[in-house]
Amino acid sequence: MPSFRAPRGTRDLLPDVRARFGRLEGIARSLADRYGYREMEIPILEQAAVFERGIGEATDVVEKELFRLAPRTEEAESWALRPEATAGIVRAYVQHGMQTLPQPVKLSVLGPMFRYDRPQAGRYRQFWQWDAEAIGDPGPAVDAEVIEMGLRFYVEAGVSDVQVLVNSIGDSACRPAYLGQLKEYFGRHEAELADTDRQRLETNPLRLLDSKDPAMAALIAAAPKISECLCDACSNHFEALLAHLDAVGVPYRVEPTLVRGLDYYARTAFEYYRRGAEGQQQALGGGGRYDGLAELLGGRPTPAIGFALGLDRVLLALEEGGEVRTRPVAPLAVVVGADPADTVTRLRVASLLRAEGLAIRAELAPRKLGRQLEAASRDHAHFAVIIGDELADGHVQLKDLEAGTQRLVALEDLAKDLARAAKSHHHG
Ligand code: HAM
Repeated sequence: MPSFRAPRGTRDLLPDVRARFGRLEGIARSLADRYGYREMEIPILEQAAVFERGIGEATDVVEKELFRLAPRTEEAESWALRPEATAGIVRAYVQHGMQTLPQPVKLSVLGPMFRYDRPQAGRYRQFWQWDAEAIGDPGPAVDAEVIEMGLRFYVEAGVSDVQVLVNSIGDSACRPAYLGQLKEYFGRHEAELADTDRQRLETNPLRLLDSKDPAMAALIAAAPKISECLCDACSNHFEALLAHLDAVGVPYRVEPTLVRGLDYYARTAFEYYRRGAEGQQQALGGGGRYDGLAELLGGRPTPAIGFALGLDRVLLALEEGGEVRTRPVAPLAVVVGADPADTVTRLRVASLLRAEGLAIRAELAPRKLGRQLEAASRDHAHFAVIIGDELADGHVQLKDLEAGTQRLVALEDLAKDLARAAKSHHHG
């Protein structure tokens, strides 16, 4: 027999872990409500060109990490699994004419993303993001609002000590001159560059600043800084962003080499890290402004900013901090019966109670009543509903397994009775 396993870099989220994801999703949805973001869905796959154009051909995400789909050969289109949500959201914004709505349009997406990366701790081929985008506002105030919302997510999730690294990477007015300086600088040090970095020197010199090769650290530290090349408009935008961050009390550090791995960014770029973990690859989340993306995808020029927070990494951070609690799920009551064979009645009574919104397990194994009650206790059920001869005149025994008491209850009052008990005991 073959033994099948989940594909490398993917994993099953078993119920305990899925529940932890659910808690994070709940926090994200609550924040989206409070900050005025509306949740939407985009397909898990897009035409590959959405990513190639939007994210950029010469990025790791597109060049190496895109999961391309090979459909029937006669199909002209080619698709890819989404490596992130921003390009798809902006594609949808353009496709559905959302530029005619009051701006900004604030959208939120929760779900899995796919990158064909080398799997390691905190880096998966399928991972989950909370993505939020404010489309149609040039900032800088909204930039600070977005950054603050992301930070609040970590606070409410219970990840302590998160700080924001921010930078401005300029725009089409001032970045070309800076890229020229970078090319010139790294060109002078070409012999010290790894092969991939030497290629990047031609295709995407900004990416050299993001090299995680330890041998590059000193070279990067001495490289020309974008902050010295910003045009007045970008420089003023950045100063105003920092003033807004100060005003809302966001702890940040200006990081002049922060450039992000996707090509659509202009001006504001930011990442969230746990304090002390900034040097590693494990950003908890990141985002930035992408004023040119809508136009690249066939829309009108539209200023926009957003972030994506990596839910897997938030859970890892919580686990490392020992801050994970699993809540056992116990039924409020188990329906048991004196006649082991009468699963029909047990199922019917359970069904009635579930229809009233109660969490009920029906004992469906044909075992003796004593065994059924033992199993109910093992389940940490608060009550056992015991079906016996009393059913003939419409009654059952309701046994409080925690208190050890038992009383007769009319079947028609049972749901109300249990619901009242659930409320006072925080069950159900
Ligand atoms: P990103 O920096 O590529 O940005 O990803 C955002 C976050 O997703 C990362 O900080 C990390 O927490 C998580 N992440 C990325 N790759 C993986 C992986 N292989 N395994 C686990 N977690 C991962 C974006 O995706 C942009 N779309 C953010 C954005 C939104 N910019 C503007 N709007």
